[in-house]
Amino acid sequence: MAKNIQAIRGMHDVLPDSTPLWQFVERTVAEVLAAYGYREIRMPILEVTELFKRSIGEVTDIVEKEMYTFDDRNGDSLTLRPEGTAGCVRAAMEQGLLHNQTQRLWYQGPMFRHERPQKGRYRQFHQIGVETFGMPGPDIDAEIILMTARIWRALGIDDLELQLNTLGTAEERAAYRNELVGYFESHIDLLDDDSRRRLTSNPLRILDSKNPAMREMLDGAPALTAHLGDASRRHLDFIAETLTEGGVDFILNPRLVRGLDYYARTVFEWVTDRLGAQGTVCAGGRYDGLVELLGGKPAAAVGFALGLERLVAILEEIDPGAGTVAADVYLVLMGEAASRAGLLLAEQLRDALPGREVVAHCGGGGMKAQFKRADRSGARYAVVIGDAELEAGTVMLKPLRADEAQTEVPRAALPATLQQRLD
Ligand code: HAM
Repeated sequence: MAKNIQAIRGMHDVLPDSTPLWQFVERTVAEVLAAYGYREIRMPILEVTELFKRSIGEVTDIVEKEMYTFDDRNGDSLTLRPEGTAGCVRAAMEQGLLHNQTQRLWYQGPMFRHERPQKGRYRQFHQIGVETFGMPGPDIDAEIILMTARIWRALGIDDLELQLNTLGTAEERAAYRNELVGYFESHIDLLDDDSRRRLTSNPLRILDSKNPAMREMLDGAPALTAHLGDASRRHLDFIAETLTEGGVDFILNPRLVRGLDYYARTVFEWVTDRLGAQGTVCAGGRYDGLVELLGGKPAAAVGFALGLERLVAILEEIDPGAGTVAADVYLVLMGEAASRAGLLLAEQLRDALPGREVVAHCGGGGMKAQFKRADRSGARYAVVIGDAELEAGTVMLKPLRADEAQTEVPRAALPATLQQRLD
């Protein structure tokens, strides 16, 4: 027998039992974003490879080892997007959204990274991302973080921790980089292979190493703080003060660097300890240099993305029923004539009961089997039509959840009766 074809490692089906929770998250986040004036943008999933190399950075894990890159039939190198920021900036530039205007944009969809799959880490995963353009001050950074805090409240998640840092400007970082390289060189025997390789290409990323053998040495590394200019310091202070006044707790973490190169000044992450090693559910920051790097006129930019798999995993623990909807009415139909009458009656019910879920039994079968389905659908009422009801022009209305008696109702009166009972 031929071997069954299976899904690609790290790429998952989301089954009907889980989609209500996904939809709950997607709907709730979309509602909060709308309340802050964000507008949705949709970009292609494929982009030219060069876009990601230039924006995420040549010497990052993503570009060096995680991208799904291939040549198409014309020989052009294309890549399945590993994240949404690069494509969103490309689209905003190309479509003239950055000319003398501010933008608050959001998107959602699958992203692809060839990482080692584990709990909370997949090769196809889903983000909702936010990108803003044209706002250079710290007000928008603060607003974005307040907005993420509101998203957690709306989802009913109250144990995430916010970490905040500034990476300074490119110049400030260059001075810091020199000091850091000096420090690492004086501890070269303690650096692992990966870190040695990064020493010249991307020394800040060494700070992010999870290697326990390097922990102590990293704890002693100099911090960027001493190199921050006044403007960068004030930028961070404004955010910190606004969050404090707004009642959003945070931890200033000078070790927080990000896995993508485009950030400058503000960076932040929301983390949980519920998901093992993959604890970051939402991450972002300011990336003022990226538009210019991609060939546009300089434009200020801030954004973040949240990982839907990770949020859903948290909700599966704390509120698995969120978003679940049950049927309201299930029609049990005995025989061909009842079946036809029932389908048409169900149409009338859907007209009369907008927003209600009405399921007509299809596929035949005995009364017992049909009632089993009705029960599993979660419906509050079964509507039964058999030969006797057909003849009398009635239906049997049977409550499935409440302890009420079943009643015979004229077919024409059923929509009005159900309207009353379901409210
Ligand atoms: P990121 O930190 O690479 O940032 O990803 C953002 C979020 O996506 C992570 O915090 C995590 O929740 C989720 N995520 C990332 N990789 C995986 C994976 N392999 N499996 C499951 N979830 C994952 C960005 O992508 C930036 N574009 C965010 C941004 C937008 N910065 C500015 N604007």
